[in-house]
Amino acid sequence: MTNALARAESLIAVTPDYPEPGVLFRDISPLLADGPALRAVADELIRPFDGAFDIVGGIEARGFLLAGYVSALTGVGMLPIRKAGKLPRPAAAVSYALEYGTATIEGPDVLAPGQRVLLLDDVLATGGTLTAAQELVRERGAVVAGAAVVLELEGLRGREPAGDVHTVFTA
Ligand code: PRP
Ligand code: HPA
Repeated sequence: MTNALARAESLIAVTPDYPEPGVLFRDISPLLADGPALRAVADELIRPFDGAFDIVGGIEARGFLLAGYVSALTGVGMLPIRKAGKLPRPAAAVSYALEYGTATIEGPDVLAPGQRVLLLDDVLATGGTLTAAQELVRERGAVVAGAAVVLELEGLRGREPAGDVHTVFTA
């Protein structure tokens, strides 16, 4: 791992018992606040997918920030994948189970058939969110070019439902 990435990893804040007792919450806010760390992480997030995606999908809320950054870096457009009830004209909706609770995501009607979507998020935990996002993309006739997260929480085995996910850091 490069020095820049090692420094970026050290900026992920760990908080016990948030948002519920027993959950060890990892917050990438300090990493996002550091320009060189953010750049190193963004470069590594997309490294395996060079030239293989037409649009970058970010999952609400922290995935939006990564997708926006990668969109500006690469020149592709972005797809905001939203929590339910925020879009005036959702094109598709998928419900899923979270580490704590359940949720539904919705996508806007902007994907073209065959368009290759790279999905980004901050954390892969149980994999429910990313799996739902993959389903949402495929429901619209688009293609999942890949998925990448800043941090994989290995103990929660999110790879089992989500499949091959490129991860910058693991914990
Ligand atoms: C977090 C995180 C991922 C998801 C990972 O978002 O940002 O999107 O959980 O969990 P999973 O792999 O078990 O599905 P959260 O649902 O807390 O929403 P937020 O970003 O709106 O706070
Ligand atoms: N951080 C951010 N999102 C999450 C986490 C976490 O530790 N666990 C499940 N979703």
